[in-house]
Amino acid sequence: MKVTVFGSGYVGLVTGACFAEAGNHVVCVDIDAAKVARLQQGEIPIHEPGLDALVKRNFDKGRLKFTTDAEEGIRHGLFQFIAVGTPPEEDGSADLSHVLAVAETIGRHMTDYRIVVDKSTVPVGTADKVRECIEQALGERGARIEFDVVSNPEFLKEGAAIADFMKPDRVIVGTENPRTAELLKTLYDPFTRNRDRMIVMDVRSAELTKYAANAMLATKISFMNEMANLAERMGADIEKVRVGIGSDPRIGYSFIYPGAGYGGSCFPKDVKALAHSAGEYQFDAQLLKSVEAVNKKQKQVLFNKISGYFGGDLKGKTVAVWGLAFKPNTDDMREAPARELMEALWKAGARVRAYDPVAMGEAARIYGNRADLVLAKDAESALDGADVLAIVTEWQEFRSPDFEVIRDALRHPAIFDGRNLYEPAMVKTFGLKYYGIGRGSE
Ligand SMILES: NC(=O)c1ccc[n+]([C@@H]2O[C@H](COP(=O)([O-])OP(=O)(O)OC[C@H]3O[C@@H](n4cnc5c(N)ncnc54)[C@H](O)[C@@H]3O)[C@@H](O)[C@H]2O)c1
Repeated sequence: MKVTVFGSGYVGLVTGACFAEAGNHVVCVDIDAAKVARLQQGEIPIHEPGLDALVKRNFDKGRLKFTTDAEEGIRHGLFQFIAVGTPPEEDGSADLSHVLAVAETIGRHMTDYRIVVDKSTVPVGTADKVRECIEQALGERGARIEFDVVSNPEFLKEGAAIADFMKPDRVIVGTENPRTAELLKTLYDPFTRNRDRMIVMDVRSAELTKYAANAMLATKISFMNEMANLAERMGADIEKVRVGIGSDPRIGYSFIYPGAGYGGSCFPKDVKALAHSAGEYQFDAQLLKSVEAVNKKQKQVLFNKISGYFGGDLKGKTVAVWGLAFKPNTDDMREAPARELMEALWKAGARVRAYDPVAMGEAARIYGNRADLVLAKDAESALDGADVLAIVTEWQEFRSPDFEVIRDALRHPAIFDGRNLYEPAMVKTFGLKYYGIGRGSE
């Protein structure tokens, strides 16, 4: 089948490459000319395990093309996927300008029937706006061409995006048109072979499903962080509590890890956007607002612990920070807890020596050259001359460090473990002080 994907970011690029891998002919359109040029050279602009090989294979076979030419993309695909960003506005609402710009472009250039598929995470009612935009652009040309607008939100996780796309838990399709649903079923069939994983519903329910899923996951995290804060004050260990509650199948073990708050390009913005949408329907989404408020506070917890350790005076102190990406296996630093921590440290007059296995380039892009930031070449050199160590991302390579090396390198042998990677008692045997999340201190 012929597929066009607008937006070659985390979602668009994976979507395009996976559809091509299944044998489809895919054109990826992006307005970022530098990004498209890199992709045409076989360079992948993001870190996503397995993506390089997948893109290269399909590019070489001629099934995957990259272009800035929207008209070419609109000519090409029966399916026109919109996978552009929907970043948060100041007031928390989703910025739909990129999505609607693509819709308008499609309306301006389409010459035959097209199925326009919203893959970006968009508020309920956006499919109607996309339809209006296309109709208006067609009207301006005096053209009458049939088209369909479908909601097909994406559930992939950065770091495991290819596996998620290739073997999805579910494919949500929002459409009232059975023929369109059938065509999408054919497109997704190779990914849902062992059982039908496509759930077809009305457009608005599909749009809300994506927000509800992310809001639920964010709620689990904020809930656990709240329990962690309680455990800390009550002399309990949240890790024991986690194991204790996870054993109940109604609760389960996934997504109940306490930590330094959730980040990334999805949870923070989606929870805010849903709460904002609720307001537009005169509904006060108290739970969503609390989930967001708890998370905002949680992102300050590591800083507060470090500041408390130094009696509130961080001037001239140096903190080694392990982990910059918002989670392991990605270089994405959007709303990453490490950013909040570093920015708070800088504000308090401290310096940072940071290391991340893959996000160093992204950190350099975001912060550039600054005197109070050293981007260290590896985890150990981040410790050189540092007072204490803070761990913000649970990368595999941080899980079993040489604690003697850490102790000897730090001026104040203390670890602030924002991901509860270590057993406190074991760390203390090395003469290190240990401060985790929700499990007492020292
Ligand atoms: N990143 C994730 O893990 C994830 C998961 C599920 C859903 N989503 C949703 O998918 C959408 C895309 O997210 P992302 O992380 O891939 O974003 P991204 O920022 O990585 O990529 C967006 C891309 O769209 C391009 N773009 C912007 N306007 C364009 C236009 N008019 N025409 C063509 N290209 C254009 C940008 O240049 C950029 O390359 C968002 O709505 C997001 O919420 C993201």
